[in-house]
Amino acid sequence: MEKLVIEGSRPLVGAINISGAKNAALPLIAATLLAPGTHVLTNVPDLRDTRTILSLLSELGAVWQRDGSTLTIDCTDISYAEVSYDLVKTMRASVLVLGPLIARLGMAKVSMPGGCAIGERPINFHIQGFERFGVRCKLEHGYVAAEQDGKMHGGSVHLDIPSVTATENLMMAAVLADGTTVIKNAAREPEIGNLIDMLRNMGADIEGRDTAEITINGVSRLHAAQTEIIADRIEAGTYLMAVAAAGGRTTLTDCEPRHLPALLEKLNEAGVGITTGERSITVEMDPGRRPDLRCVDIKTMVYPGYPTDLQAQFMALMSLGNGNCVIKETIFENRFMHVAELRRLGARIQTEGNSAVVTGSGPQGLSGARVMATDLRASSSLVIAGLAASGRTEISRIYHLERGYENLVDKLTGLGARVWKEDE
Ligand code: EPZ
Repeated sequence: MEKLVIEGSRPLVGAINISGAKNAALPLIAATLLAPGTHVLTNVPDLRDTRTILSLLSELGAVWQRDGSTLTIDCTDISYAEVSYDLVKTMRASVLVLGPLIARLGMAKVSMPGGCAIGERPINFHIQGFERFGVRCKLEHGYVAAEQDGKMHGGSVHLDIPSVTATENLMMAAVLADGTTVIKNAAREPEIGNLIDMLRNMGADIEGRDTAEITINGVSRLHAAQTEIIADRIEAGTYLMAVAAAGGRTTLTDCEPRHLPALLEKLNEAGVGITTGERSITVEMDPGRRPDLRCVDIKTMVYPGYPTDLQAQFMALMSLGNGNCVIKETIFENRFMHVAELRRLGARIQTEGNSAVVTGSGPQGLSGARVMATDLRASSSLVIAGLAASGRTEISRIYHLERGYENLVDKLTGLGARVWKEDE
């Protein structure tokens, strides 16, 4: 296994481009299963998770090839296959093939994802929705076996929680169902809109986008199409906070400032210099003034509220601030795995249930140490803290990082950071 080594306290200066969004690429790659022919997806990040779902598609009969950030995927010869526990346990988002397979083949068998470091991660909303469409779902031996009796029909579904992947899975099932489907309390994350754009490109009839209610009029068939993956707002937010923490001046290009309303507001409140262009964000923090960083409260919410995927990173940043703040996690039940590791770097954090009180270290700052990554976003919070800390930080189990951050070492070294990988 590899570890990441960081020599901290170096300002980050320059420009980096933001890659395509992991959480858009995964559903859009799954959506290619809905139609025969050769699909083209552009701006696709090359990540551990995108490689996982592409190997899953290969097992189902898809033929794909990558040329830089452009993927061509031919789903003409899709055949029924079980999606194994070994695959799904490494990436929960594998369940996103359920909807397209049921729509295309009338049946699917996918291992239940099981929990992960940040929470139980159930898929009951997905299953309840499929059953509303006349699909019989049996849970046996850890698998979901879904089969439709005759043609799947549309239905009305109200999601208890605006679940991102449940919204995506049900949309992908409904586009080929008989009749109309209405999804109420749908998720409104930008990745949902990206999927709607792709499904429309393929010939789907969908009313609503970025709305809490989506209406889908089923069509008899769809065709392959070309779609661009949107920029990764979570990657962008992570780098904004890395520069705010380490100090410096960096411009992020190929990104969407409008997809980060809550974070940009909080960074302004905290005293971080932010200027935005049409497709760029410039972040500035004078290293000498970093100790003036103000601690501000956040509470994670569904989009457009503060994203849960940027909670751990913000906690690392606030550990360097002045004063104290409360960070409340309302989406997942166990998303404070980074707290114990941040404490090893000198952060002062007290947790109580789903709230964490952070007392900023102010001018004293943090000090480098050996720490361990526990999940994707927790690992990026350790990178942020390590970039700001004095001395050397070593982060083990960095396969977590590689799931969601493309070319992280190159991007950071391009900004002047001293960071590299070593064998553990
Ligand atoms: C998506 O996960 C993202 N993953 C997550 O990003 C992100 O944290 C999450 O949305 C919230 O924004 C992808 O898009 C691949 P949810 P998802 O269903 O869809 C509960 C990352 O770091 N729930 O919106 O699995 C669930 O337990 C990852 O990139 C049910 O109870 O999240 C959670 O408490 C981590 N039953 C809440 O809803 C269900 O059937 C929101 O989860 C589904 C969800």
